Amino acid sequence: MRLKIPHKLAVFIFLSLIFFLALIYFTQPPLRQLPAEEIKRIFFLAVILGFLLATISGYLIFAWVKRPVQKISRALDQLWPGSSSRISVKADDIEDLARAMDVMSQKINEDVNDIMTHKSHLEAVFLSMFEGVMVLDSQGAIMLMNQPLKDLLHVTHDPTGHRPLEIVRNIDIQDIIETSLRTPSSLISKEIVLFFAQDEKILRVHASSIQYEGKAEGVVLVFHDISDLRRLENIRKDFVANVSHELRTPVATIRGYAETLLDGALDDKENAKEFLRIIHADSERLSLLINDLLDLSRLESGKIIMDFKPSHLRSLVDQVLIRLNVLAQEKRITISNQIPENSPSVLADQASISQVFFNLIENAIKYNNPEGKIVILAQDKENHVEIRIEDTGIGIPPDEIPRVFERFYRVDKAHSRQLGGTGLGLSIVKHIIKLHEGEIFAQSRLGEGSTFVLTLPKA
Ligand SMILES: Nc1ncnc2c1ncn2[C@@H]1O[C@H](COP(=O)(O)OP(=O)(O)O)[C@@H](O)[C@H]1O
Ligand SMILES: [Mg+2]
Repeated sequence: MRLKIPHKLAVFIFLSLIFFLALIYFTQPPLRQLPAEEIKRIFFLAVILGFLLATISGYLIFAWVKRPVQKISRALDQLWPGSSSRISVKADDIEDLARAMDVMSQKINEDVNDIMTHKSHLEAVFLSMFEGVMVLDSQGAIMLMNQPLKDLLHVTHDPTGHRPLEIVRNIDIQDIIETSLRTPSSLISKEIVLFFAQDEKILRVHASSIQYEGKAEGVVLVFHDISDLRRLENIRKDFVANVSHELRTPVATIRGYAETLLDGALDDKENAKEFLRIIHADSERLSLLINDLLDLSRLESGKIIMDFKPSHLRSLVDQVLIRLNVLAQEKRITISNQIPENSPSVLADQASISQVFFNLIENAIKYNNPEGKIVILAQDKENHVEIRIEDTGIGIPPDEIPRVFERFYRVDKAHSRQLGGTGLGLSIVKHIIKLHEGEIFAQSRLGEGSTFVLTLPKA
């Protein structure tokens, strides 16, 4: 940007001279015919006139240039206060102004680059946020929504310009936005529940308004998915309630019979023995329950140290069967260990895998019919061995099959309790198998029998 004003003036003076010479040439008789004195006078007059004209027009040009320059200076002053103080509005300083504007345009470039960098940083943060974020304008229309929120709310199209209510049918979100726009300085935090076809989501929403000169220009909403947290909290609450309930029953029985004995029943030899037998059975139940609870808590806390070793499946099952022999004989149940002698070794912590087989085979005996059958099979798969424990027992109703692995879940509470069950056996099994990076699931037909299938990695 270069304003070569002096050059323009010189051109102007030169043109004025030419103009006057031409004027004289056409108005006077030809120069050749004039005396030398007259020619000199005309030249002198032309120079004077040319000079006057050049000065006047120069001044006019300067006045014409001065106004926009002053305007530019004032505009610059508003943008960067003090920036035009260096620019004096004199014709000689116009180049200074040009230079100052050069500097300024450089500064603008730098500032724009800074803003762009800042913007891309913000965008990166916005995009990489795990939480859902939504930005709305002062009218409550969506300006921005990040991908996690789109996923959370199952939004498949571009929501820009729409109202949140058009995207999610939830009046609570709309309420939060309106309150936030009405009370700009407040930070609102609320828990909302969204219902979708498949599931239900519990979200904590934080809203804070974007303020400019004390007015709300928009709202930023941050959504945290706390469904898992709430579900775990409920599981924990249920667990505590269940444990208390399970402990209370045997404790109440023990206390009741002990009080009866103390109140004189001790002298009645026949009844006293029966009461003591009940006290003994219930204290046994308590001890089983406490042991199972301790096992479960150790497994869940991850504090248990597993000693994974190549293990021979058939002999592991054989050892468990010896311990369950009496129980099986009481019901005249036939158990057949059909795991091949040469079945591949599995990588297992022997104590805990023995517990898995004990719990599964004990269930297969307990929930079997008298003279029922149990078959244990193993099949070599690519990276693991699949073990099946099949029984001809009472079976499990189809909708309850996935639930039997939950803590304290029992298809028939009274029946399980009567058999001395705690309802924790299959949860323990599931945890142990998970720690072995294996899988377990159940198949069953009500009244025909059940099969528990589990996989263990090959050694
Ligand atoms: N082999 C099986 N046949 C039928 N029902 C079973 C079998 N194994 C488990 N179940 C059902 O699953 C429930 C949970 O089993 P478990 O966790 O071992 O608890 P418990 O045996 O102490 O009741 C049992 O109460 C029973 O209803
Ligand atoms: Mg059991």
